Amino acid sequence: MTSLPTAGKRKRVFIRTYGCQMNVYDSDRMADVLRPLGYALSESPEQADLVVLNTCHIREKASEKVYSELGRLRDVKLERRREGSDLTIAVAGCVAQAEGEEIARRQPAVDIVVGPQAYHHLPQLLAEAERRAAVRRAGKRLPGAGVLDTEFPAESKFDHLPAPAGVRAGSAFLSIQEGCDKFCTFCVVPYTRGAEYSRPVEAILREARALVAAGAIELTLLGQNVNAYHGEATDGSTWSLARLLRALAEIEGLARLRYTTSHPRDMSDDLIAAHGEIPQLMPYLHLPVQSGSDRILEAMNRGHGRDLFRRLVDRLRAMRPDLALSSDFIVGFPGESDGDFDDTMRLVDEVGFASAFSFKYSRRPGTPGATLADQIPEALKTARLAALQALLADQQRAFNSMKVGATVPVLFAEPGRKPGQMLGKSPWLQSVHVEGPTSLLGRIAEVELTGAYAVSLSGRLVSPLEVAA
Ligand code: 5AD
Ligand code: SF4
Repeated sequence: MTSLPTAGKRKRVFIRTYGCQMNVYDSDRMADVLRPLGYALSESPEQADLVVLNTCHIREKASEKVYSELGRLRDVKLERRREGSDLTIAVAGCVAQAEGEEIARRQPAVDIVVGPQAYHHLPQLLAEAERRAAVRRAGKRLPGAGVLDTEFPAESKFDHLPAPAGVRAGSAFLSIQEGCDKFCTFCVVPYTRGAEYSRPVEAILREARALVAAGAIELTLLGQNVNAYHGEATDGSTWSLARLLRALAEIEGLARLRYTTSHPRDMSDDLIAAHGEIPQLMPYLHLPVQSGSDRILEAMNRGHGRDLFRRLVDRLRAMRPDLALSSDFIVGFPGESDGDFDDTMRLVDEVGFASAFSFKYSRRPGTPGATLADQIPEALKTARLAALQALLADQQRAFNSMKVGATVPVLFAEPGRKPGQMLGKSPWLQSVHVEGPTSLLGRIAEVELTGAYAVSLSGRLVSPLEVAA
């Protein structure tokens, strides 16, 4: 057992977050773990004593970025050592989980490698890293590389992480579910984030109440498969996501609820009904479909065809006619023919998306897709992605234009880029710019939408409407 680093001494940590909103949430929790050890947040690696890279492994490009950033950090560290001080470098997140030992081999300047399930061990890991640094300073040789913790501990990290400390401008993330048991053949998540796990109901309700008390008026529930949520309640019953949403909607002062990211297979009748019944549940749903071809969906092991997706969309829109849909698409999965790709384009045409993310298939070692024959040439993937993105961009522009003239509630989360400008989100998650005071931060105000652009809207403040208590 190592002693913990001294609390109270003022130190600075810089956390860089890559990838999805789960990582954004995790980075905040890591800051919460480090705060009692005396770490305040720093704006740049140059001013920090500790740098944490919270990494993403979902596509090759995301992983490679980490190694180039580590190269830059090594130079900062060497410079520090020349000056007689040091920089501690930690790699967290999914690259840490998947490539732990390789990171230490490729970049020996890394002190700590910590997987997403082990963040509550950070104090011990830092203590061990400090001990190793002291040994090195004494001129002795160290066995092995840095400190590595990529186990899936038996205890849940959620039971050991401190409560969230603050809320940024009225909107907060709340992680309710992690991991995935679906094993889509392209995806590393089941390997990096582990098996599906739902947090107990009471812990979520407690965290939600604390976030609202700290100023949140919008909560976004997070999970890799958030709509597969099945958490245990204190009476031993199991709650679905729909039931949890209904309970959260009872919290006084909570104006908006969202959840992400979902799987079509887990869109239960109850959850679809919830979209029509819970006024706080925003009319926006991110529902990844990946492909419009039955053959490719099968090869991806998605467990549903294009018809099921079409039917889900129809039923959701029947419940909530103003629902905006967003999705994820992958082009160039192994074996994807021109006909398969046309099926995807047709599905997009038929459904109509308010926004979407689309990617070229990236071959991930260890996934079944990586070993499939008939990998698609890069140039063909590029051409298909360009065609799909052009169609999706048209749809997004059309959706934004359709809202011009409407007066809608906007939640202001950050200052705009120009002085005097504020940036907020519409119910459909569109970015909206207005001229307005910074006192709008963390509040909802009525805005008349006046102009539509590719990925945002401009508007005019009608009358500030305070929703928060
Ligand atoms: N290649 C390309 N895109 C991928 N995604 C997941 N794995 C891969 C991969 N190997 C995309 C999916 C998923 C989103 C988070 O990332 O569209 O929904
Ligand atoms: Fe990955 Fe599929 Fe699980 Fe989503 S459902 S995290 S794409 S394996």
